[in-house]
Amino acid sequence: MEIKTIVTTPFQDQKTGTAGLRKKVSVFSQENYLENFIQSIFNAVPGFQGKTIVLGGDGRYYNAHAIQVIVKMAAAQKVGRIIIGQNGLFSTPAASNLIIKRKAFGGFILSASHNPGGKNGDFGIKFDLSNGGGAPEAVTDRIYEETKKITSYQIADTPDIDISQIGEFSVGETVIEIVDSVKDYVEFVKGIFDFDALKGLVSSENFKMRYDAMNGSTGPYAVRIFEEILGAPKGTVLRGTPMEDFGGGHPDPNLTYAKELVDLMYSDEGIDFGCAADGDGDRNMILGNHFFVTPSDSLAVITANYEKVPYYKGKVKGVARSMPTSRALDDVTAALGLKAYETPTGWKYFGSLMDAGLISFCGEESFGTGCSDLREKDGIWAILYWLSILAATGKTVQEVVQEHWRRYGRHYYLRYDYETLETEDALNFMDYLRSQFGKITRMGEETVKSFEEWNYTDPATGEVALKQGIIVLFESGSRIVFRLSGTGSSGKTLRIYLEKYEKESSRLNKEPTEVIKPLFEGMAKAVSLSDRINREYPTVIT
Ligand code: G1P
Ligand code: ZN
Repeated sequence: MEIKTIVTTPFQDQKTGTAGLRKKVSVFSQENYLENFIQSIFNAVPGFQGKTIVLGGDGRYYNAHAIQVIVKMAAAQKVGRIIIGQNGLFSTPAASNLIIKRKAFGGFILSASHNPGGKNGDFGIKFDLSNGGGAPEAVTDRIYEETKKITSYQIADTPDIDISQIGEFSVGETVIEIVDSVKDYVEFVKGIFDFDALKGLVSSENFKMRYDAMNGSTGPYAVRIFEEILGAPKGTVLRGTPMEDFGGGHPDPNLTYAKELVDLMYSDEGIDFGCAADGDGDRNMILGNHFFVTPSDSLAVITANYEKVPYYKGKVKGVARSMPTSRALDDVTAALGLKAYETPTGWKYFGSLMDAGLISFCGEESFGTGCSDLREKDGIWAILYWLSILAATGKTVQEVVQEHWRRYGRHYYLRYDYETLETEDALNFMDYLRSQFGKITRMGEETVKSFEEWNYTDPATGEVALKQGIIVLFESGSRIVFRLSGTGSSGKTLRIYLEKYEKESSRLNKEPTEVIKPLFEGMAKAVSLSDRINREYPTVIT
């Protein structure tokens, strides 16, 4: 096998964001763009030779091509073994599980998560380390430095491999192992949840559920788990076929993009439980009949009910949430005497807390929930957890959540996103906010208690992450957080997170939009939001 050295020139825009390198397919398909990035990972992280890596993605456009390139480049590095999901498919949690299970050196996950796919959509690569989680900043910074000075890459001159059949063969000194994408993951969740109890619920004639796979990577996982193993009728899994363009949809499980599922849950069909996962399967959405569970509440409910999942009984010591996630979790951790942690946005920050054994569960307002048994968030894990709560209590989703609110109070919560802002407008706006620290004392009806930048020190490693968002805390306990997205692929996305706590039992069942509106309007006026960002309305509210 001949190994070729190809001369290249660096790209200046290969800095990874919140979760890997994400760009338009048109950017990724520039000559040498993908190759430069992969070689930069090999250059920045020594020790691939002879080791095992995991490779697969959410099946989006460019997935198949990228796999061929990575195999040839890994063969040139004399990687020992590459474990690839059949047809190149792995959900992100399934890849994380395999990295851990097979003690791999790391993994390449090909996905732009919930971003639209297809030729005109996004593609992405995330490099996970041997703990099964995204590489920390110290590593991604090194990779970025390499991308800026790369002059050549190595690639094996071999034909494309067949990834459609399970089996093993070699490319040069590298063993290629094509595996069933679903099997190991099923064993993983079976080790955590009581599948007999789940089967009792899911296969019961009195219980109807729907799982929306959004034509992403989790369709085959969901069909196997919910229909074939747990006995839900065929047709329980909607949009179960992975597609390169997600059927033209936006594979993000929220009230806007999973509209058909939401409509179904709010119809007279009498569906008890609705759920969805995003393109790569790490995000999730939970719905009851005529009822939506916010991700922040979901994390709080999961934590409050941990004794209902026997596997976790007596095991849970700490739980973490990302800073912008509502503080519903904090009420639970305080009541149960658990340690609570607050991290910057992005799953990788949970990783070091898990590695240090500090937390068992964690979650983000952006529809991400997960456990320390993996290092990626995991949609199906969260869904099985919810089903376990329903099976153990015999209650509906709505009853579980409303009881939770009666006990702990409710954190009304909404996130306003302004996508593809002009970069300059977005950066100027954040700087403007900084210039107002200590100056703005009121926003509408609310009195400002503190208004400041949020910086983070990792309690396990001591690593510091600066400027992770701007927080306005009000005397009333309400809170507003501003931050710029790290996952957008063009321009800048401004996210504004608004939260209002309510303990009074007569006010627990209001419309969040109604409760949050005055808070939003007071803020928008106080900081002249529309004028400064040149945008009248948010792109999406979740
Ligand atoms: C977004 C979410 C964040 C999540 C990330 C990856 O990042 O806000 O919680 O971890 O996607 O799924 P952002 O675009 O806000 O940087
Ligand atoms: Zn995702």
